[in-house]
Amino acid sequence: MRLKIGVFASHGGSNMQAIIDACRDGTIDGEVSVVICNNSTAYAVDRARAAGIPVYHLSGSNYPDADDLDEAMLLVLEKHKVNLVVLAGYMKKMSPAILKKFSNRVLNIHPALLPRHGGSGMYGMKVHEAVIADEDTETGATVHLVNDKYDDGSILGQVVVKVEEEDTPDILAKKVLPQEHMLYVETLRRIASGELKI
Ligand code: GAR
Repeated sequence: MRLKIGVFASHGGSNMQAIIDACRDGTIDGEVSVVICNNSTAYAVDRARAAGIPVYHLSGSNYPDADDLDEAMLLVLEKHKVNLVVLAGYMKKMSPAILKKFSNRVLNIHPALLPRHGGSGMYGMKVHEAVIADEDTETGATVHLVNDKYDDGSILGQVVVKVEEEDTPDILAKKVLPQEHMLYVETLRRIASGELKI
């Protein structure tokens, strides 16, 4: 089935952009049908608009009731005929209602080699800071299925990045991010082509 991807983003949206580009150049047999962002000023919103993709700001600020927010998200996903949900730097926990409706069809990317440095509160720079603090010699990124626990679902793909002695969290973030883009695109390509069954 051709992928109709619904991306959830919160910040820069560089992973989302890599996925949009890979759909448009034919690497991934699919399209990004819609973007949902919980932060109206995120650069991801500008990127989606620039790409001509419908983008919705849905969050606790405009839907204070969690059930209303779930309903609004599900309506948007249904309206745009989404068959795969992709979390790309989305910093909120995915709601059980969406996980139920999209069972085994919600993916996330994490900027470390899960199960290392995952779990509640581990996101963005905090992850890279933990890698340096623990003197890990390698890190990387993980694409996994999302379940009801943070960073816990089945691992679909990983990429390893060597940590050099002089690396800082900032340097690591800059090294890992382009690898995330490649990993996410490759994982989605494999799902779209049927090479990877989920
Ligand atoms: C990425 O590094 C992603 O792995 C991370 O946020 C960044 C978003 O960048 N996600 C997490 O830490 C989730 N736990 P982007 O908005 O430019 O794609």
